[in-house]
Amino acid sequence: MDKIELEKRVEELNNLLHTYGHAYYVLDKPIVTDAVYDAYLQELIGIEQEFPDLIFPDSPTQRVGGEILSGFGKVEHVYPMLSLSNAFNEADLRDFDRRVREATGQNVSYICELKIDGLAISLRYVDGQFVQGATRGDGTIGEDITANLRTIHSIPLRLKEPVSIEVRGEAYMPKRSFVRLNETRDEAGEEPFANPRNAAAGSLRQLDPKIAASRHLAVFIYGIGGDGSEYGPDRHSDALDYVDALGFETNKERKRCKTIDEVIEYVNKWTEKRSSLDYEIDGIVIKVDLFEDQEQLGFTARSPRWATAFKFPAEEVMTKLIDVELSVGRTGVVTPTAILEPVLVDGTTVGRASLHNEDLIREKDIRVGDTVIIRKAGDIIPEVVAPILENRTGEEVPFHMPTHCPECDSELIRLEEEVALRCVNPKCPAQMKEAIIHFVSRNAMNIEGIGERVVEQLYRESLVQDVSDLYTLTREQLIELERMGEKSVANLLGAIEASKENSLEKVLFGLGIRHVGVKAASILAEEFGTLQSLMQATPEQLTAIHEIGDKVAESITTYFSNDDVLEVLRKLEAYGLNLTYKGLARQDIPTEGLFAGKTIVLTGKLFEMTRGEAKKEIEARGGKVTGSVSKNTDLVVAGEEAGSKLARAEELNITVWDEAELLEALSEKGSSL
Ligand code: IVH
Repeated sequence: MDKIELEKRVEELNNLLHTYGHAYYVLDKPIVTDAVYDAYLQELIGIEQEFPDLIFPDSPTQRVGGEILSGFGKVEHVYPMLSLSNAFNEADLRDFDRRVREATGQNVSYICELKIDGLAISLRYVDGQFVQGATRGDGTIGEDITANLRTIHSIPLRLKEPVSIEVRGEAYMPKRSFVRLNETRDEAGEEPFANPRNAAAGSLRQLDPKIAASRHLAVFIYGIGGDGSEYGPDRHSDALDYVDALGFETNKERKRCKTIDEVIEYVNKWTEKRSSLDYEIDGIVIKVDLFEDQEQLGFTARSPRWATAFKFPAEEVMTKLIDVELSVGRTGVVTPTAILEPVLVDGTTVGRASLHNEDLIREKDIRVGDTVIIRKAGDIIPEVVAPILENRTGEEVPFHMPTHCPECDSELIRLEEEVALRCVNPKCPAQMKEAIIHFVSRNAMNIEGIGERVVEQLYRESLVQDVSDLYTLTREQLIELERMGEKSVANLLGAIEASKENSLEKVLFGLGIRHVGVKAASILAEEFGTLQSLMQATPEQLTAIHEIGDKVAESITTYFSNDDVLEVLRKLEAYGLNLTYKGLARQDIPTEGLFAGKTIVLTGKLFEMTRGEAKKEIEARGGKVTGSVSKNTDLVVAGEEAGSKLARAEELNITVWDEAELLEALSEKGSSL
């Protein structure tokens, strides 16, 4: 065969192997025998060995795992990877349904899916080729695990259409593979994995892709990243059919439900049946089906309002309560923690559990020495459910909360309407340490390399008393700390230095102002642009912002009137921290320009530009782009196949442009609004 013929043959083999692989791994319906598949694969391998220039990146031979990596690169997600709110019982589901219907009207329909217990991944395709796969990470930045994901057969290396798309899904290890893997590990004298989720995560975090390749992982895709309607479908269930048609594997147990009763029926069915599946599920995900309804509902900082996860009831286990430990949190709340005889709960060993507060301990009559039932509340933090009274010997000792702070000995206060006891000494070392831990945490300044242990030492050695002191740390000071080598010191100093460049919302959240969570911090940063102008804001200016209520406003003004706080802020500024918002602040949206002060909705398919580009262009000319059409909308730009938004615009008599009109306006020849 000459080179041209060979090239043709390689293409043919690639196509055949993709089709056969898809039938085998995704559809679970093989169309040729293993021997036939292997024969073609061997033929392809033979040609590729002789002519390496004919190895295409999406060749099926490229799944076996290539070179060992030295580390994982970081991937910034184009659309953040959020998590889901939880529902634990029927009442929570009915609440969710009520909120959804209040926001969207009565005729909402849902889609129920199994909640696969693995790890979230995002897969990016350009012109139909798999280019990058990443973990969720902190939701904004994940790790590049492309090399490992390429080894998973249910991830297509090439799509059936040359589209550019990002899909999201769950990578998991089937129960059968998990059992087999642990058997082999056991034989080899290696520690077995606690559960399939850990095994899947452990496999994908290997730097040698050959290990992932040997682990028989699989993936279910459960959604499109960003705006799924850009690809045609106007509802989630159609989007799943669409990704199916592109060659991905979706979970087929999904069901569309018209009422919350149908949802509950589905939830009950799978609560019963879940052990019959060959993969582990930890709940049911309920999503509002229509994209338009989803847009109407929107998001909180952490999760979409249009979906929720029903979590299966947690496993309950018995153990002994040995002691009660007290800890003082960032806001001074003193929390009792049960110290337990370690037991295995849902695959992890638990030695501590929350006792919440004194009222609860008394109500349940929990005593030191009791045999207690524990479970993981919301699947993460273990809690003590109840003591087993029949097991009492008379030796058990009732527990009483102290009257004074276990850290600083000042008197504990019970604030009105609160069950918690608080230490209100602002100089309480426990609170100061917690404040530092909060400041460096991921959603705040994200300084890697400072954990509880390091903060404890820094505080004890008087190196860091408040968060500003972090920026004075030197190599010489850090190298003296326990378990700190040159490399970790260098990394830590680098991370501290880099954090100076964070945008204002990270600093604001990090300061730990009461009632200012991630979302409020981001709104405030966007609204005020600089710390200076936020500090000067009056309560009226604060509450004028839609999302900020009286309680938050009061907490902010009180915070900035404290002299100790002002001193810390002054130091942070002096050490060179950025105290401005780095995104486009609301006040910086141009007040002049074609669209100044106008609210615009984009809908339907655009051809000359993406919706994201159109949004940028509009914002640069002073406009605000929102998702849903209301009487406050000034203009709707309707691309092709625009649906109900266009109809609504016409109903409300709102000006409608097509793409050509938008383009003309952007090129500044067009009419003004
Ligand atoms: S939808 C905006 N669907 O559950 C988030 N998630 O907290 C959209 N998960 O780690 C997620 N099965 O990876 C969705 N059918 C499913 C899922 C699913 C498992 C995971 C997801 C994430 C967590 C949600």
